[in-house]
Amino acid sequence: MINLKLHSDIDASALAVQTSSAENLVPEIRSDAMAGWFTLPEDYDKKEFERIKTCTKKIQSDSDYLVCIGIGGSYLGHRAVIDALSSQIKSRTKILYSGNNISTIEFQKIFDEIGDKDFSVNVISKSGTTTEPAVAFRIFKEKLFEKYGENEAFSRIYATTDAETGALHDESLYNHYERFVVPDPVGGRYSVLTAVGLLPLAVAGVDIDELMAGAREEEAAVVTEPISSTIADSIFKYASIRHILRSRNYDTEVLASFEPCMEYFEKWWQQLFGESEGKEDKGIFPATAVYTTDLHSLGQYMQQGRPNIFETIITFENNPTPKNTNRVNGEIVVPKMDKDLDGLGYLEDKELGFINDKAEAATMTAHSEHIPVIELELPDLSERSLGSLIYFFELACAISAKLQQVNPFDQPGVEAYKNEMFRLLKKPGYSKSA
Ligand code: PA5
Repeated sequence: MINLKLHSDIDASALAVQTSSAENLVPEIRSDAMAGWFTLPEDYDKKEFERIKTCTKKIQSDSDYLVCIGIGGSYLGHRAVIDALSSQIKSRTKILYSGNNISTIEFQKIFDEIGDKDFSVNVISKSGTTTEPAVAFRIFKEKLFEKYGENEAFSRIYATTDAETGALHDESLYNHYERFVVPDPVGGRYSVLTAVGLLPLAVAGVDIDELMAGAREEEAAVVTEPISSTIADSIFKYASIRHILRSRNYDTEVLASFEPCMEYFEKWWQQLFGESEGKEDKGIFPATAVYTTDLHSLGQYMQQGRPNIFETIITFENNPTPKNTNRVNGEIVVPKMDKDLDGLGYLEDKELGFINDKAEAATMTAHSEHIPVIELELPDLSERSLGSLIYFFELACAISAKLQQVNPFDQPGVEAYKNEMFRLLKKPGYSKSA
């Protein structure tokens, strides 16, 4: 469960009124044609889930690398969780990411890393037509053909796409790739708990049962009526605080964490909120920061810059420490020295986690003197907690967008650039300017 603490002067009764409006939006969100993600943690495709586990075993037995090709919602969710848990998970197969840029340098880096090792490809695209992943897929397909010949190459391709339409869907059927489905009522940025995220996550060694269990805890709190639980309350409060702050001209939110491994989780959040809210000249600009690194850059702005920013900080009740280490409790301490030349004697034997906690507390106190600060505290850094946080943000995002009266589930701006790019590249049927 996510514990929300607010460091701001928002009046409790105003917040209560807004929270109840947020809660009232749930039935409308739930009945939306694109709200398949709402009941997904409970209502997922169990057969496909088992097939994901079977394919995971095959990939882990025959591949040193799984190249995951995808962009936006077909990329960020699994990268978010894999990076966050990187110190805890183990797998023979390393995940590489492609199709999220068109940079020759980045492609070459992946070729160099794979070298003559064994690899498979998971191509992920709901529409099956997005240029970046489509181009990357063709390039890696050729690499597979060169190394394994056509037949084995086909058995090393895993395609996650629409159930019925799109070029990738058609090609998958034609070449008999192992196929996984992005359910129709689940948009890209809400799809991490489908095969989009689950196959790469399982291959990387993430416990996907636990991840789903965490999301299920949040879902259980909002599917039954009347909704009344502290779990649901935190979701409604987060959306409400954002809305109240937006109405007070706070138009930028910075999501921050004191664990750098959360960087891609923040990027996933940024995409979720940016693409869902930023339309019709509305929305809160979603920015991210990694502390303490960025305290020495953005920190100055947060403390004394234009006060149009509010900050949301993800914290952990139990310090995240790497597993599989020989140190007691996995913690690293400041070593003792005979001479206190650097003046750090007062920190001797103190754990880094202890010092990081103090940095966190100090930042919250200092920043909240200038801007509103929301703290989202997770019990720990685990699959279960991240599953909860994914669902928490998905629902809070849908509510936030509805409060601003924009559609949380479309992305006309992204489509505009995709179509204009097709035109510039002279794709047949795209001769007119967007
Ligand atoms: O959230 C979204 O819908 C987008 O970010 C898409 O995930 C992204 O544009 C990739 O689209 P596709 O999976 O169709 O290739």
